[in-house]
Amino acid sequence: MTTVPARQKILVAVAWPYANGPRHIGHVAGFGVPADIFARYHRLRGNDVLMVSGTDEHGTPVMVGADEEGVLPRDLADRYNEVIRDDLRRLGLSYDLFTRTTTENHHEVVRDVFRTLHEKGFIVEQTTVGAFSAATGRTLPDRYIEGTCPICGFPSARGDQCDNCGNQLDPADLIEPRSKIDGEAPVFKETSHLFLDLPAFKEQLAAWIGEQEHWRANVRRFSLELVKNLRPRPVTRDLDWGVRVPVPGYEEREDKRIYVWVDAVTGYLSAAIEWARNRGTPDAWRDWWQNPDARHYYFMGKDNIVFHSVIWPAQLLGYGDGGAFGAERGRLELPHDIVSSEFLTMEGKQFSTSRGVVIYVGDFLSRYDPDPLRYFLTAGGPEAQDTDFTWAEFVRRNNDELVANWGNLVNRTLTSGSKNFGVVPQPGALTDGDTAVIEAVEAGFDSVGRLIEQARFKAALAEVMRLASLVNGYVSEEAPWATIKDDRERAGTVLYVVLRCIDNLKTLFTPFLPFTSQVLHELLGYDDVIAGELEFRQIDLEAVTYTVLTGDYKSWAGAWQPSTLEPGRALREPRPLFRKLDPDQVVTDELARMARAAEA
Ligand code: MF3
Ligand code: ZN
Repeated sequence: MTTVPARQKILVAVAWPYANGPRHIGHVAGFGVPADIFARYHRLRGNDVLMVSGTDEHGTPVMVGADEEGVLPRDLADRYNEVIRDDLRRLGLSYDLFTRTTTENHHEVVRDVFRTLHEKGFIVEQTTVGAFSAATGRTLPDRYIEGTCPICGFPSARGDQCDNCGNQLDPADLIEPRSKIDGEAPVFKETSHLFLDLPAFKEQLAAWIGEQEHWRANVRRFSLELVKNLRPRPVTRDLDWGVRVPVPGYEEREDKRIYVWVDAVTGYLSAAIEWARNRGTPDAWRDWWQNPDARHYYFMGKDNIVFHSVIWPAQLLGYGDGGAFGAERGRLELPHDIVSSEFLTMEGKQFSTSRGVVIYVGDFLSRYDPDPLRYFLTAGGPEAQDTDFTWAEFVRRNNDELVANWGNLVNRTLTSGSKNFGVVPQPGALTDGDTAVIEAVEAGFDSVGRLIEQARFKAALAEVMRLASLVNGYVSEEAPWATIKDDRERAGTVLYVVLRCIDNLKTLFTPFLPFTSQVLHELLGYDDVIAGELEFRQIDLEAVTYTVLTGDYKSWAGAWQPSTLEPGRALREPRPLFRKLDPDQVVTDELARMARAAEA
């Protein structure tokens, strides 16, 4: 008896970008593009994907940004929520819901999780000495304090760690500490905070992480190390911008809020709940969150690992089947995989907004198309090691790989096909060589799919490109444009074989290059949508109205399986999928632009 495999519930949980500025291409290389490849692939496989995230709008990063610009945190968050969601949409990141942490729903869910952890005794009060800004009285986070390292004498050690000797520090240990914000010495005073009792989860976390043999080795090793030295961690902060602390004695205070990281990671749950409510099926989120068969994949840059592999799992373990959502419906699922990327540098330097070493996603997309950027960030991005973005390399990959290989294959085949036949030709008998190339491409559905499932996106894309080269080799050898002069039937057969391969390659490329795959789908004569538009939708359920990024992905066609391209299907007037870029001009223009930004 054969059973149809059930559609698997896949949660694609994407790190929440801070709403304190536009995002640069290094950010989307880490969290955005890999997550979207994964989500689009699983949708094509027929799985039920829920891809959620939003802007991370509370805490010090947004407050400091607002102070610098002399605006309210809420106004800064509004502005950058809009900018970021627009960029993500233009890059084709197919979120089921991209929302915000300032929604009423998010606050309620965060408070429920926090309250439950407190009631169960996992959050306890401790008195500590904290550093405060002399000017504003607000907490100064450890990494905003600089001073001389008491161990090695390095003059610009940070409050949390010395980058010279690598030792963990406490801001109070620093010699001549000063605030990085205004250069003034911080004031140290006693303050009460609530702490998450991480040591209470030590055994559970160690056992759980130990079992996660499918995690990238660096993530698992790093997390196991962290678990060896767990200490209670403060989960409240002295500030007035964030989620109120749902604990007596804290609730009414204007100067205490929940730590932004505890608030943000809870967004993976709150956004699923919001998504279910927005579509009128308020319990639908439970199919992902309270379903042991569901699988949760988290995507982020490497500086986010601890929050996803230790702190969020501890929150989930502590919440258990309690609170407003767990009761009687079962515990919440732990992460299945934590896919973290390394860092992208820029022409050999760390990205730095203040030094003008930065390429914002929006600026990039105002001059170049989204698929070449997605291509670069996957083929040449920081999947497993820090990598460098250079304009020269971007142009080289665009011209020598996208245009010369895939683009050229599509272009010459469609041009010849539409000029000589106008439709997908009816093939004659296939030779062994014809069958071999078709089978090689069709085998890609297994090999590429397996690599994507393992989050090996670079290797997966290289495999699709290898198949495109193979078909290019076949078509060059068979040269149907020459054969047609004396053997129209054989030329038609070859064009049929190539068009069928191209149709398959189109599907294999869709998760990586959705925009050009949709164009090609249309050129091949199809009328439906395999990678359509994303949408903004206005949500007015609450006192405040806000806009989310979403899409109607269930209406898209396409399936991760070989096509049976019918002969006779009318082809459309071909046009190039990719633009060739002039290397000298791009490099000169872009470096000049960067130099101007650095001076400004
Ligand atoms: N805002 C954080 C950053 O940009 C990421 C938050 S991920 C979340 O580094 F899970 F906590 F939301
Ligand atoms: Zn040191």
